[in-house]
Formats: sequence, structure tokens, C-alpha cells
Amino acid sequence: MQEILEQIATELPLLYGQGKVADYIPELAKIAPDQFAMTIHTIDGHEYSIGDANERFSIQSISKVIVLVMAINILEEKLWERVGREPSGTPFNSLIQLENEMGRPRNPFINAGALVTTDAIIASCKDAYQEILNFVRTNTLCDDISYDENVARSEYQHSERNTALTYFMKSFGNIKSDPLTLLDIYFHHCSLAMSTKELSRLFLFLANGGVNPLTGERILTPLQTKRVNSLMMTCGLYDNVGDFAYRVGLPAKSGVGGGIVAVLPGEFVVTSWSPELNQSGNSLVGTRALELFTQHTGYSIF
Ligand code: DON
Repeated sequence: MQEILEQIATELPLLYGQGKVADYIPELAKIAPDQFAMTIHTIDGHEYSIGDANERFSIQSISKVIVLVMAINILEEKLWERVGREPSGTPFNSLIQLENEMGRPRNPFINAGALVTTDAIIASCKDAYQEILNFVRTNTLCDDISYDENVARSEYQHSERNTALTYFMKSFGNIKSDPLTLLDIYFHHCSLAMSTKELSRLFLFLANGGVNPLTGERILTPLQTKRVNSLMMTCGLYDNVGDFAYRVGLPAKSGVGGGIVAVLPGEFVVTSWSPELNQSGNSLVGTRALELFTQHTGYSIF
């Protein structure tokens, strides 16, 4: 596995400069673009990494998986009255479908959908900031993972799109909490700073039928786990999901910080990170690295 990772790293350098670091969040625009890391963590406890695998970066939309899992535990099947399960085919912050679909977002992995799942958490938790942090810290066994206040503030200051989405959904009755509190918590979970090693550990339960093998704790039932992985397969890469499935063949979730978490159920979690993005907001080098990984190893769900 280690040799394969080293081989992959030699095949990537030509791609640097072809993508673009996210610049609509000013704090993210400051990042050095030519960084790369990749970690594979198997459910039986083996971990292999290459590159800056201890370097923490902004997980951004990868946090949408965290809040979905927490919201499923709170609302169970009722969640789907408020959010759909179809790929959107539109950019992650698009407003277009929301009006036609009466304020019910297409899926939990576009911004509107994650605002709804975050809203569900706020309604049932005394301290949503802390509960989200607890979830991440407990499942990685890493107590110093935290929000990046600079990134959260930067996003709050440039939040026109997400603010519009929130108020629009509230007009349909699909947001219950105070919009500014909701946006603040949403921006905070997007700002979580984690490395590829930490992200690979966090999502091990998705490769292990819902049980975190590091703690022995059940996070989801096997059925719920299958469903979250299915949603990642169909909706995890926004309007790029078909191309990603064609090239990589694993359920995955990306973020505009350049991270991508992918899962092979029953086997492992593989996480890549490189800040330059393609036009859909997914890591260009990170996608290629995962594509090479499934090509070289033959591992995929298909
Ligand atoms: O709300 C936003 O726009 C960002 N915090 C998250 C967007 C994101 O990561 C989309 N991912 N590819």
C-alpha cells in the first residue's frame, strides 16, 4: 500500500497549476496551492500516508457528512420530509431548485441541505457547537481538533449566498432556528481544521457497518450506514458526481478546502487533500490521486 501511495505521488506534479484555490472565502485564498496528502486507514487498524498527512486544513463541506449523521440520529426517517435524496446537478450553493421544490433542498450535501441538517441539530442540542466538536473529537480520539475561528469569521463576512438560502428556506417553514445562529454554527463546522489522518479515522464507521473500530461505539445502524454511503455516491461531489464515480468508483465527499474523503465499505477510508479545485469545487489533484489509487489497486465498489 505504501509503495502504491509513493507511486501515485510521482504521477501528480504536472497537475499543479491547473486548478484554482477557493477564493470566495478570503481566508481560504491564502493557502499555498501545491500541497498534497493522502491517508488510507483500514478498519482492521492499518494506516498508510504520503505527503503532508499531519497538516490540518479546512474540511469545509466534508462537515456535511458529520451533520447529516448527527441529524439522522436525531430525526431518523422524519429528516427526509425536510431534505431530498437526489443529486442536484447544480453548484453547491445554487438557489435555482429551491423555489420550485418549495424550500426542500435536493440532498443533504448541498449547502441548503446542510443548513437543514444543522438546523435539526440546533433544535435538539443545548450546545450545538460543543456537540459537533465532541462528535469529531471522540471519533478521532483527538482532543485538540477545533474550529478555525479565522475561517469561520471570513465566511460569515462573505455569507450572502448562504444567508439567502437560509432565509429563503425559512420562508417555506423549513428552517426553525434563528437564521444568524444557524449560519454561525454552519460556518463553524465548515471551518473544522483536520488532517487527512484525522479525517480517515473520523469516518471509519462508514467503512465498518456503522461502528467506529477505534472506540467500539456504534454511530449508525448498518442500514443507515449503507444509506449515508449511497448518498455520498450519488450526491457527494455536487455537479461533478458522475465524472467522479466514473473515474474513482467510491462513495466520497469533498470540500472546497481541497479535501476528499472516500469509503470502501468493509475495507477502509481513503482521504486525499490538495487545495487547487476544479470548476465544481472539488480538489483537482486529490481527485486524480483517488482515481490513480483505485486504478492501481483495483479497489472500488464496482
Ligand atoms: O458554505 C460554503 O460555501 C462552504 N463553507 C462550503 C462549500 C464547500 O465546501 C463545497 N464543496 N465542495
